[in-house]
Amino acid sequence: MNFYFAPMEGITGHIYRRAFHKFFPAPDTYFTPFISPDGNKILRNKEKRDVLPENNAGMKVIPQIITNRADYFLMAAEYLKSEYGYTEVNLNLGCPSGTVVSKGKGSGFLSRLNELERFFAEVFEKCSLDVSVKTRVGRTDADDWEEILGLFQKFPIQELTVHPRIQKDFYKGQIRMETFAYAYENWNGPLCYNGDIFTKESYEKLVSRFPKLESVMLGRGLLSDPYLIGRLREEVLPEEASRRATVREFHTQLMEEYGAVLSCDRDLLYKMKELWFYLLDSFEDSERARKQIRKCEKLSEYKVIVADLFDNHKLL
Ligand SMILES: Cc1cc2nc3c(=O)[nH]c(=O)nc-3n(C[C@H](O)[C@H](O)[C@H](O)COP(=O)(O)O)c2cc1C
Repeated sequence: MNFYFAPMEGITGHIYRRAFHKFFPAPDTYFTPFISPDGNKILRNKEKRDVLPENNAGMKVIPQIITNRADYFLMAAEYLKSEYGYTEVNLNLGCPSGTVVSKGKGSGFLSRLNELERFFAEVFEKCSLDVSVKTRVGRTDADDWEEILGLFQKFPIQELTVHPRIQKDFYKGQIRMETFAYAYENWNGPLCYNGDIFTKESYEKLVSRFPKLESVMLGRGLLSDPYLIGRLREEVLPEEASRRATVREFHTQLMEEYGAVLSCDRDLLYKMKELWFYLLDSFEDSERARKQIRKCEKLSEYKVIVADLFDNHKLL
């Protein structure tokens, strides 16, 4: 099985990826949070830093692009190739955010199939890189999935990653496993599953139902349990104390590297709070710490809470 680290805007940028790759059982491939090219800029400076090869040494990274304009997509893809040597880009057809969807991008593009077909026709005619797609199964109705998949089948998509939710499910609605099963049975290229794999049990259930599945993309599961890929690969993991010490080192590296690029303590605090939203799931008796971190307003207070957590709370 190939394991992919899902793109997660605001979290899994190059600083996070590097730290993750150094300390934990690594995925085969990382996808960058989406790059959003427009008429003014192909890539913003932050996006450039995220894809710079020296910021991603030793990792296989695939940049993701979000747009509904073939010309912007092509400009960004060719730039990623000529400037940095990338050979594959991923198209985001999944983002459920209101502002993105209202512009007809992300999962919003799934309700404009004529436009999407024209987009693909131009992209696949002109793009000199491989193009993979990460998609939801519809915008307003999963019944549209057959038609969407039929459209995808007309093009040489390198790999299709399916998150079997529709836009209005956001990240919470029930996974639509029957809809994924349709892709499993009918898609004639490489297929990757994404969604709600948080434990070995949920992974085993997935592969027992879909035994020929080649790839699984993990997002929140890896943020909550950075050892998840090791568990899924049935690696022998270090004992609890050693894992906890490693998570602590990971946290220290993130604090240092984010601290060096963010302009003030408040921004750093906000960044670290986002990390703990997921990572606290891995700690025993963490409810009090969760409240404390959420309410905390000063970096000095934050450091005391986190030190106590690492000293006195075991990893599950
Ligand atoms: C905070 C956050 C940011 C995300 N950013 C992106 C993104 O930039 N591109 C993308 O395709 N999906 C993005 N996603 C969706 C994830 O890649 C993934 O599809 C989703 O979390 C479901 O997988 P999971 O259940 O393993 O987390 C984001 C999700 C979250 C929660």
